[in-house]
Amino acid sequence: MKTITKLTVALAVAGTSALAQNVEDNFMINEETEITVKADAPAHVEGLSTIYSGWAFRGEGTRIMQMDDFDNPGMIGVDNARDDWSVVEGEAGESCESCHGAPEESMAGVRATYPKWNEDAGEVRTMEMQINDCRETRMQAEPWKYTGGDMVDMTALISYVGRGETINIATDGPGADTLKAGEELYYTRTGQLELACANCHEDNYGNMIRADHLSQGQINGFPVYRLKNTKLNAVHSRFRGCVRDTMAETFATGSPEFVALEMYVGSRGNGLSVEGPSVRN
Ligand code: HEC
Ligand code: HEC
Repeated sequence: MKTITKLTVALAVAGTSALAQNVEDNFMINEETEITVKADAPAHVEGLSTIYSGWAFRGEGTRIMQMDDFDNPGMIGVDNARDDWSVVEGEAGESCESCHGAPEESMAGVRATYPKWNEDAGEVRTMEMQINDCRETRMQAEPWKYTGGDMVDMTALISYVGRGETINIATDGPGADTLKAGEELYYTRTGQLELACANCHEDNYGNMIRADHLSQGQINGFPVYRLKNTKLNAVHSRFRGCVRDTMAETFATGSPEFVALEMYVGSRGNGLSVEGPSVRN
């Protein structure tokens, strides 16, 4: 393992607690929605043969919280967003509902395919960008803060109605340049520790880093309710935390760099299930 020396020194990676051999292929939520947590790696990800959801690396108590919506604290965000969904806001006198109807009907396929190329705008959009575009241009309302409570709750609702769908982010077509830019960031070493995402999440997943069982850093579970900060966390907030841990300057939430990184990291999970809102420590 080429990077382990540096990691061992810098961060005390301990032992090879190889990922529990018997990671199940899936689990059920509410005994009805099947969630795939282990799949063959997509062809464009050369560094992995099998992909695993972060769920597989968490302790049993954390895993169980996600298996029943009554125990999943992230569901509060889903409920909040259901209220927001029908609230009329802005000059145009519209609500999400007035254009999109029930989220179960209109939004079920969204989470699995975002970030996604938007032809009219000529750019790759995250769910957050699309939601704010609807707020600004369709509703003539104020945009939400990129990782603010209203926004992360809305992404939780859209994830919830798409739960169990297979992640399928386009790796070719007009978004391919953005994906490539994200891939470059993923493999670029940054910060005083000179670590890339890949050094931890590709080379060392399954190992312990401090008290944490390192996962592949997949984002199929986002937004994630973290027991550590007791709230729903957006993808870009998590990216910032990880970049900061390498003691590097980080990009802003919603920045083109993080949008590209999200598209690439998301595509590394092609084949896993939409799991959000998930529970992690
Ligand atoms: C006035 C009508 C209107 C309102 C109000 C509206 N939208 Fe939209 N929304 C659209 C249209 C039209 C599209 C397709 C736009 C495109 O592809 O560029 C869209 C697309 C979307 C998409 C992407 C769907 C996909 O399949 O890719 C999401 C997510 C979304 N809206 C969320 C919301 C949310 C959340 C709200 C409320 C905060 C909202 N919209 C309010 C008209 C609206
Ligand atoms: C120094 C090691 C290290 C580096 C470098 C690192 N991370 Fe992480 N990351 C962690 C640890 C530790 C966790 C918490 C345990 C886990 O879920 O793997 C984590 C968690 C995550 C998660 C949450 C996964 C989930 O299922 O909730 C994502 C996403 C993530 N990292 C993405 C990234 C990205 C993208 C980069 C590069 C910008 C990166 N990480 C760089 C150590 C690292």
